[in-house]
Amino acid sequence: MTESGAVISKAVIPAAGLGTRFLPATKATPKEMLPVVDKPAIQYVVEEAVAAGLSDVLMVTGRNKRPLEDHFDRNYELESALETKGDEARLQRVQESSDLATMHYVRQGDPRGLGHAVLCAAPHVGDQPFAVLLGDDLIDPRDPLLARMVQTRAERGGSVIALMEVAPEQIHLYGCAAVKPVEGGDGDLVRVTDLVEKPDPAEAPSNYAIIGRYVLDPAVFGILRETEPGRGGEIQLTDALQKLAADEKVGGPVFGVIFRGRRYDTGDRGDYLRAIVRLACEREDLGPEFRDWLRSYVDEEM
Ligand code: G1P
Repeated sequence: MTESGAVISKAVIPAAGLGTRFLPATKATPKEMLPVVDKPAIQYVVEEAVAAGLSDVLMVTGRNKRPLEDHFDRNYELESALETKGDEARLQRVQESSDLATMHYVRQGDPRGLGHAVLCAAPHVGDQPFAVLLGDDLIDPRDPLLARMVQTRAERGGSVIALMEVAPEQIHLYGCAAVKPVEGGDGDLVRVTDLVEKPDPAEAPSNYAIIGRYVLDPAVFGILRETEPGRGGEIQLTDALQKLAADEKVGGPVFGVIFRGRRYDTGDRGDYLRAIVRLACEREDLGPEFRDWLRSYVDEEM
């Protein structure tokens, strides 16, 4: 285990998935680029990493993901066209994404699962604790989660995962954690004693689901190298974390931070639509008019 106080500066964002749930929209466009109101989903995730103090971002990509690199890079042609028009507001919005963070990219090659994607980050991350953010989960910036997880790692060492209570019939969609209370912790900090990836509801040890935020000790890389394919024939990050939780000598304990804030799942079509409606309603510029329209639409059509 590395020193618990080591500063965390690196975030890893796996983004190699095919996005099959959104076909045909994702035939030629990465699913991470689908807009949530007027920003691609992935930009919210990078903004969240930066807000938690992580300004070095590594994206683990695959074939057909060039638009991701372009989005976080300068677009001089567009910038100069906006400049010529004197459109300062849009110019600023275009520059925002390229000024956000120091971006790095590595390609996963074979899509062998989330654990394998994280392992692809090992040469870049080195022997430091790091964060992993999954692009399908958006966490509302008003309910900071990652900063709390980073702080937990600094205070207690080990690894930290984000947990959320879900209905028992939903648990088979997630990694599931068995937990126990932590000495001196508030009710939202727990110790993880066991983990199972997407259990059958009858065998789930709890209704605490892993949501897509992790702060990991680099010891996870050694474990991932030896982790056999698990559920779905893929190398599962959950299985590697289970081994960390079972043997604290390897990478320290695994903690869970229970999240009770607003989370939007953009990986599912229904949830994606709900995320857009909720975020649009809350926008200062679009919200008032959109809410009025939504009210009358619901009254008249539903
Ligand atoms: C992944 C993880 C799972 C976690 C989920 C959170 O699953 O394997 O443990 O609960 O993300 O979104 P996926 O949704 O990629 O199948």
